[in-house]
Amino acid sequence: MRPIVTHSPEETRALAADLAAQLKPGAVLALHGELGAGKTCFIQGIAQALQVDQPVSSPTYTLVNEYRGRLPLYHIDLYRLKNADDALNVGLDEYLEGDGVTAIEWAERAEAVLPERTIHVRLEHGSAENERRVRVLTGDTP
Ligand SMILES: Nc1ncnc2c1ncn2[C@@H]1O[C@H](COP(=O)(O)OP(=O)(O)O)[C@@H](O)[C@H]1O
Ligand SMILES: [Mg+2]
Repeated sequence: MRPIVTHSPEETRALAADLAAQLKPGAVLALHGELGAGKTCFIQGIAQALQVDQPVSSPTYTLVNEYRGRLPLYHIDLYRLKNADDALNVGLDEYLEGDGVTAIEWAERAEAVLPERTIHVRLEHGSAENERRVRVLTGDTP
């Protein structure tokens, strides 16, 4: 799939909000990309669309932030994890089985436990400072 190019954090949030409109209970989003790529920004757009009214920032001291919205949003950041065993130890599988939307930064650290229905979102810096290339890969992408 060709990447979508965004030119500001607002555009990235709007793109995420479009995607969020299609999310059902139990949806899993895996966010990939280096530090500063816009993973948290993308999840802020998801939160906005789910009518979460609290500010969303990366869960730095906790591994998981839970938000109440149209659907519950579980925001997980695996930056500090080494492998999938650690992810299971923090209860990731219980979030994945829940009725909310689970959005995971650095999801490749828990690749082994991600369900098949996971929607993968890859963010990369573009050629200009505020440009990002975003790829969304759903299970039904040919
Ligand atoms: N097009 C864009 N999309 C997303 N973020 C952008 C964009 N342009 C600039 N930024 C900036 O890049 C940073 C992305 O940070 P963040 O979402 O925390 O990244 P990550 O969670 O991947 O480390 C923010 O400071 C944001 O303002
Ligand atoms: Mg982040």
